[in-house]
Amino acid sequence: KTSKLWGCDGRFARQMNDNLAQLNNSLHIDKRLVQEDIFGSFAYSKSLCQAQIIQPNELEMIQSALYEISNEWKNGTVVLKDDDEDIHSANERLLIEKIGNVGRKIHTGRSRNDQVILDMKLWIKKAISDILEIFSTFLNVIIEKAEENIDILMPGYTHLQRAQPIRVSHWLLSYGFFFQADCERLKQIFERVNLSMPLGSGAISGNPFEIDRIELAKNLNFRGVTMNSMNAVSDRDFVCEFNFVASMISIHLSRLSEDLILYSTKEFNYIKLSNEFCTGSSLMPQKFNADSIELVRGTTGSIIGQLMNILTTLKGLPSTYNKDLQGDKESMFYVYDKIILSLKVMVGVIDTLEIFKENCWNALSYDMLATDLAYYLVRKGKAFRDAHHCASAVVDVASKSGVDINKLPLTAFKMVSESFNEDVYNIFSFEKSVEQYQIIGGTSKTSVLEQIAHLKEFAANL
Ligand code: ARG
Repeated sequence: KTSKLWGCDGRFARQMNDNLAQLNNSLHIDKRLVQEDIFGSFAYSKSLCQAQIIQPNELEMIQSALYEISNEWKNGTVVLKDDDEDIHSANERLLIEKIGNVGRKIHTGRSRNDQVILDMKLWIKKAISDILEIFSTFLNVIIEKAEENIDILMPGYTHLQRAQPIRVSHWLLSYGFFFQADCERLKQIFERVNLSMPLGSGAISGNPFEIDRIELAKNLNFRGVTMNSMNAVSDRDFVCEFNFVASMISIHLSRLSEDLILYSTKEFNYIKLSNEFCTGSSLMPQKFNADSIELVRGTTGSIIGQLMNILTTLKGLPSTYNKDLQGDKESMFYVYDKIILSLKVMVGVIDTLEIFKENCWNALSYDMLATDLAYYLVRKGKAFRDAHHCASAVVDVASKSGVDINKLPLTAFKMVSESFNEDVYNIFSFEKSVEQYQIIGGTSKTSVLEQIAHLKEFAANL
């Protein structure tokens, strides 16, 4: 005998196979949607009443029972049954147990197909707001560090080879702008989800009762409704988008982690992570390992894995609802939990990060000003390509004679090009080098301050 909500003893004379029951049961995962599910039923019962499917007194019974069920879930007093295969069937059973036949009307015209998407969309809007809230703290932490360290110079790298001097702040802010873009992506997903309330799509064809979907959307805090019922119940694009943006966030965190891990090695020694974010070794007593950010970097793979998970599920899936889709929530929850934790860890890591000014400064070397040497010649009228060759020749002479380029005598410069004069020595200043990039986005102090102002305004309006 089955007590499934879809059951009837004639067609389902035999109990569901135990293994299938296990595979099918998703309550342990989708119970995270409990409050969204109840909120959805709460609003839907109002629509049913407006459509005269239930009477005002029945509406009241349903709504106060839902209120009780919501509290029971919060207090942990709900008693579950084996036949509760998911959160939707559990909540419907609980309602029926409380108010009998009136409860049996809640699902009129509704399907778990439109119900589950509603729940997920409600949930994802909240999830996005949570992530944005942490980003607002994170961006402010990055901004503060950038402000504190605006006068500290360090080597900038391309190909991990020493390239040009930069401000430490410029490096930090480069990540700030990646995160700004991530926030914008999240807000775009939020807006798209917000415009597409799915309830009223039924299992596939819509809802035949007088349900005012626009009104229903308003009551559920959405700004618009989906326009095609088949599209609505097929759609998991928002999960793909969420997992994609989460992957991007994670990739950005991972690249930042990589920089931090490298810069905190004794070989670089530009920065130090607070003990709070390190662990020791069970064998080597001297160790401080940057486990926090290694975990952040390592988690990225599993988040990208969840993006592949949902994309692969959708590929080749026929129209509308297929049970394959049930795995979407596990994927979405996993990604959310990991992103929240990774972001929180990174906020702490950056907030407590120590920057060794002297070591950053001492790591600069004059060959990193070879580009400036070429620009010097450009200003004397040489074509850049020729100037580049001359500067390269100077670097070569200096390295072969074992001195820094700023220590070469003028005669050595003159041998390379007659355009070099006494004033060439003026370019050998790291401060001047970073200050020459006054352009928007450059390394000069004004430019970096501009970047800070820009990011500050963005964070304030998140
Ligand atoms: N637990 C299901 C899921 O999350 C709900 C939708 C079930 N719909 C159905 N027609 N069996 O996918």
